[in-house]
Amino acid sequence: MTKPDLLAPQPPAETVPPLSRRKFVKAGMAVAGAAYAAALGYPLYRYLATPAEHADALAAVKEVTLAEADKLPRESAMLFKFAGRPALLLHHADDTWTALTAVCTHLGCTVQFDKDRKAIYCACHGGLYDPKTGANISGPPPKPLLNYKAQVLPGKVVVSRA
Ligand code: FES
Repeated sequence: MTKPDLLAPQPPAETVPPLSRRKFVKAGMAVAGAAYAAALGYPLYRYLATPAEHADALAAVKEVTLAEADKLPRESAMLFKFAGRPALLLHHADDTWTALTAVCTHLGCTVQFDKDRKAIYCACHGGLYDPKTGANISGPPPKPLLNYKAQVLPGKVVVSRA
């Protein structure tokens, strides 16, 4: 067996042929096509997702932390989202707190706190709710607003399903 001659000239290493313009354009079009399909596909997927899937995702939300909400002045309210739906956090004059869904039980309009009326008001058809309990007190709403549990902590308010 003979030893290889390391000093002898070696054959040139294989070189990779440069990417042709045609292949480069094809690769670019493939990448652009994939990005375009993803840009169209994801919203379409979200749109076509069944309401049951949406409901499951929203039902999985058990609590929301509202940073700095503990500084909400008395006799005022703030809107926030709980599981994708509008909700109201209210700080009452007697320093008690209430968290309620802000979806009117009549036809689903978003309600708001009306300080002058000392009530939660639905501007769609004039429905009124008690701001402490969410009870429907006048107008067309057939049911009270859903209550959440509001836990006031330093620097935040944690709202959870009651
Ligand atoms: S939707 Fe609120 S009173 Fe009709």
